[in-house]
Amino acid sequence: MNKVTTPKSFRVKSFGCQMNVYDGERMAELLGAQGMEAAGEGENADLVVLNTCHIREKAAEKVYSDIGRIVKDWDDDDGSSPLIAVAGCVAQAEGEEIMKRAKDVRMVVGPQAYHRLPEMIGRASAGERVTDTDMPAEAKFGALPARRKRAPSAFLTVQEGCDKFCTYCVVPYTRGAEISRPYGDLIDEAQKLVEQGAREITLLGQNVNAWTGEDAKGRAIGLDGLIRELAKLPDLARIRYTTSHPNDMTDALIAAHGEVEKLMPYLHLPVQAGSDPILAAMNRSHTAESYIRLIERVREARPDIAISGDFIVGFPGETDADFEATLQMVDTIRYAAAFSFKYSPRPGTPAATMGDQIAGDVMDERLQRLQAAITRDQLAFNQASVGKTCQVLVERKGRREGQWLGKTPWLQSAHFTGDYAVGDLVDVELLEAGPNSLSARVC
Ligand code: 5AD
Ligand code: SF4
Repeated sequence: MNKVTTPKSFRVKSFGCQMNVYDGERMAELLGAQGMEAAGEGENADLVVLNTCHIREKAAEKVYSDIGRIVKDWDDDDGSSPLIAVAGCVAQAEGEEIMKRAKDVRMVVGPQAYHRLPEMIGRASAGERVTDTDMPAEAKFGALPARRKRAPSAFLTVQEGCDKFCTYCVVPYTRGAEISRPYGDLIDEAQKLVEQGAREITLLGQNVNAWTGEDAKGRAIGLDGLIRELAKLPDLARIRYTTSHPNDMTDALIAAHGEVEKLMPYLHLPVQAGSDPILAAMNRSHTAESYIRLIERVREARPDIAISGDFIVGFPGETDADFEATLQMVDTIRYAAAFSFKYSPRPGTPAATMGDQIAGDVMDERLQRLQAAITRDQLAFNQASVGKTCQVLVERKGRREGQWLGKTPWLQSAHFTGDYAVGDLVDVELLEAGPNSLSARVC
């Protein structure tokens, strides 16, 4: 076995959802607080953390090819080797398998245990191979250093885990049971993010709208209460939240969409399928009809709201008629944006062993038709925005000289020219629409 160096530089590479992006940022802050430097673009890092996603098969396979690439690129003239850590949901679900299959991996750390990375790195540097996939409920966030993120748009994880057990999904197994972070901690973290320049905060959770807590006076509150409190931070301009489950969409949260000006008019509310027998087999515990009614109520509270969703095609047993019902759902809701995936059997989930798994070519064809319908509606939504005036939060420079890119309240990408800086809120008129972005003119 090669000598392992004590790491001086690190890289954290995150795959998958926004919660992983958040975890990746916090791991980077933790490693920085230990005195390690983030490796620059194209530079080798002594320590590489692959923060993995297990939601679909391809995501897990990518991890193994990445490990191979890191080892190949490493300059081992001095007999050293890189410290590779696999973190995230693949680590949680397949920790032992990874250690067996990828001998170059020195650490496996689950999503609830990454606050212990410094100690693990010490042991791994001494030659040990270390696995920590414990799920200690509250420990992690309290043990992490304070936020150091400087960006106009920041993530804040308020809730983790899931008790819903949709039959296709690994999250209840990899992320564990639903846990809400305490109110006071969240207000503190939000304040720090705002002090460091955040104008927008997106509250994250696998089931974010199931968040519950107690406010400063000890009263029980839900996500709407947290949002109303965050809205009082003077320099915070925008609040978003994702991802929600239809059954946790309370009346109070719906009302907040009509009443809290800083809550942006955008709701990501996955439906997954449009057919009741498939929704039942998925254990979604809502029907197509109840979802449609829910969206109607949200639109009553906030008529201009952009609705986005997630879909799975080719769930076991999905007939042509079931799939037509999904297309019908898209026609009814008219999504401003939506993500669609081919069903991927996840080991250990109930759906993986269901009969009547759908053939790959059938899934391909269904996915294409669904995506065409979604793109059509996305373009229509953007076209309907043309002529509107709104604020855009400037996020980064565009490709052309003087061009800036930012997000509208409806989470559309807009580009415009002018003399601005990242973090500015600029009043624009939306001019021309494509399926993925709009051009704008400063008012
Ligand atoms: N196969 C395909 N898509 C899945 N998703 C979750 N599990 C699976 C799976 N086994 C999708 C759902 C979810 C999104 C994050 O990923 O649509 O909302
Ligand atoms: Fe992937 Fe889900 Fe884990 Fe996020 S929570 S990393 S999407 S498996």
